[in-house]
Amino acid sequence: MQKENKVEKGVIVAAGLGTRFLPITKSVPKEMLPVLEKPVLQYVVEEMVESGIKDITIVISREKTAIKNYFKRDLEFEKKLKKAGKFSRLEPLVKILKETKINFVYQDEALGNGHALLCAKRKIGQSVFAFSDADSIIDAEIPVTRQMINIYQKFKSPVIGVQKIRDKVAMTKYGNVYGQKTRDKHVFTVEKFIEKPSEKNVSPHGLIVGGMRYVFTSDIWEYLERQGQGKGGEIWVADAANELAHARPFYAVKYDGKYFDTGNEEALLKTTKYFYDKRK
Ligand code: UTP
Repeated sequence: MQKENKVEKGVIVAAGLGTRFLPITKSVPKEMLPVLEKPVLQYVVEEMVESGIKDITIVISREKTAIKNYFKRDLEFEKKLKKAGKFSRLEPLVKILKETKINFVYQDEALGNGHALLCAKRKIGQSVFAFSDADSIIDAEIPVTRQMINIYQKFKSPVIGVQKIRDKVAMTKYGNVYGQKTRDKHVFTVEKFIEKPSEKNVSPHGLIVGGMRYVFTSDIWEYLERQGQGKGGEIWVADAANELAHARPFYAVKYDGKYFDTGNEEALLKTTKYFYDKRK
């Protein structure tokens, strides 16, 4: 059992191939595609930072130097912008980089998001940590990772962020979460996860996983290490989490927030339109 109460470390996996955006992803990582003036990955980093995470490990592939360069201070450039009176647009990013330790580790082959997460094991050690993919944005008043950390602190157990939907056909397109209600109407115990179930087998509570958001305790590592290839020959976080949920208490929090995918053209366009309209 984990003793730690504070959750200050996070892992974001951003080493995928991004084939749905070829040819642009030949040189621009999918996670660096913009939603207005910021890359998608910055929204994910901001969610963690605003949730109290102070040490973020981003898993990248060797080709994704653009990500490493972006999350690195450039003092000369900052000086130039200040002199020209044009620093304000860069300032929020600089603030993050000043206050947050951002580490990079490599996934040498895109063997799946679970394999990518395992590449960060040495940086995290025995700490409890937040985990996120790098291609979903959740717009929320209280950052979703914070909402999940609050539940972790109550139960000292792993937590997954879920949404509740009613449309059973739509539910068949997502990972479904099965478990029991608790006294808190936003929190469920997790018994198992099933990826894209048939319509008659969808989660009775309507719980689905859009973007990947978890708080993990250190026991996830042994499950990931044991996890063989799953769907498509890849190693999946969801498969390891499913095993973990069979072995110990695990909670799902139905978060307050609006989930946006950015992993394909239509989704990225819709996400951009939402943030544009919101700003207007
Ligand atoms: P996706 O499942 O969307 O895959 O990844 P992808 O490779 O990025 O994109 P497509 O399907 O080829 O267009 C979800 C998240 O998991 C990361 C991705 O970077 C993304 O943030 N990921 C996926 C890895 O880090 N490594 C992998 O091996 C696979």
